[in-house]
Amino acid sequence: MSSDDHILISELGAHEGQEVSVRGWVYHKRDIGKIRFLVMRDGTGYVQGVVVAREVPPPVFEAAGALTQESSFAMRGRVRREPRAPGGFELNVIELTPYHIAAEYPISPKDHGTDFLMDNRHLWLRSSRPHAILRVRSEVCKAIRDFFDERQFVLIDSPIFTPAACEGTSTLFETDYFGEKAYLTQSGQLYLEPACMAHGRVYCFGPTFRAEKSKTRRHLTEFWMVEPEVAFMELPGLLTLAEDFICYILDRVLDRRREELKSLERDIAKLEAVRRPFPRITYDDAASVLKSKGAAFEYGSDFGAPDETILSEMHDSPLMVTHYPAAVKAFYMQPDPDRPDRARCVDVLAPEGYGEIIGGSQRIHDHDLLLSRIREHGLPEEAFKWYLEIRRYGTVPHSGFGMGIERTVSWICGIHHLREAIPYPRTLSRIYP
Ligand code: 4AD
Ligand code: MG
Repeated sequence: MSSDDHILISELGAHEGQEVSVRGWVYHKRDIGKIRFLVMRDGTGYVQGVVVAREVPPPVFEAAGALTQESSFAMRGRVRREPRAPGGFELNVIELTPYHIAAEYPISPKDHGTDFLMDNRHLWLRSSRPHAILRVRSEVCKAIRDFFDERQFVLIDSPIFTPAACEGTSTLFETDYFGEKAYLTQSGQLYLEPACMAHGRVYCFGPTFRAEKSKTRRHLTEFWMVEPEVAFMELPGLLTLAEDFICYILDRVLDRRREELKSLERDIAKLEAVRRPFPRITYDDAASVLKSKGAAFEYGSDFGAPDETILSEMHDSPLMVTHYPAAVKAFYMQPDPDRPDRARCVDVLAPEGYGEIIGGSQRIHDHDLLLSRIREHGLPEEAFKWYLEIRRYGTVPHSGFGMGIERTVSWICGIHHLREAIPYPRTLSRIYP
């Protein structure tokens, strides 16, 4: 209970039969003559206030009548279990204190277009759908931290301003850094590799930026990524880590955010069908599958979104695709010893057509091989000097991956477009609000 005696709506169950005060906003209002029903939301839940003309002084009944949608107010009353009420509880209101009478609210239950809702994102956040999604997101982030913290990983924050590209030069956001060029980070990976030589197991978790110039439902220009990096780990260990990680997050959300998933009408059975071990397939075998299904895919190239959709719809669990052609992947990936034109890498494709949620690999740990890759890719050697140097002092095999938070939340919540999985989306066409 807070110091001024107001409780949270989520705590009502512990106060059945008692008199309590709650405060929040008008979610819904209904008048049937001498009784007024006020559904309040406070972020933690919903409760129906019942204001009966006969039972309260006239000013209280009038104040209830003056409240408009989204007006803020406090109410006091006795808690009664009422399975038919939203939230499962009712308050027999005896006192009512308005804080602010809201102007006419632009969002109603009618079907608004997504552009309108996104222009009003600052208000739309209050609606039940975004509310549920962002609570799932919050739980996913907590699960991520718990997973790594429980396994002796050390959190290493990577910088946002960087002097060089990690994931290709075509999606860099350039900025002026006191007369020098700097870029917003695309990934913390390059900074984690040195840190894992110091701590063994590390992870970073923060916003990353990519100037994605095409409009797709799977790309944001600002998104959150969590990236573990582990010394002495090779590709097979990385696959197990990714599998354990995904299962941990799913279990957590199913345990603690089931109500939100239900309110989003997510088919929960689909999430419960995810089973270890995840299916694994090489790039070559995946390419054959695509060919047999008549996909427009060209052998040797990276998979496009439609290809990933086909592959990810084939299984109940996420699909792990390994050994892509090194030529279509990043410069730092360790070549496979048996087939040096293949990278020891993995993309994890979420089922139901969601596609890639994780990208990762074993890293090149040999100094000279890495140097030649940096040169082949035409990257500025000077900017990578420090990164190369790690390979001169007790270099060891190491691996890591990056998981996109919005892709993961979209899959778990069953969202079509990534923009709903982040509080304030940034895309090619949106930087407001
Ligand atoms: O596959 P990516 O590009 O991998 C890396 O950045 C590695 N450096 C990570 C590592 O090994 N430490 O990106 C990783 C994940 C993708 O699988 C996807 O989930 C997400 O980041 N992602 C995006 N999410 C939203 N919008 C975008 N534009 C994204 N680009 C990548
Ligand atoms: Mg990728």
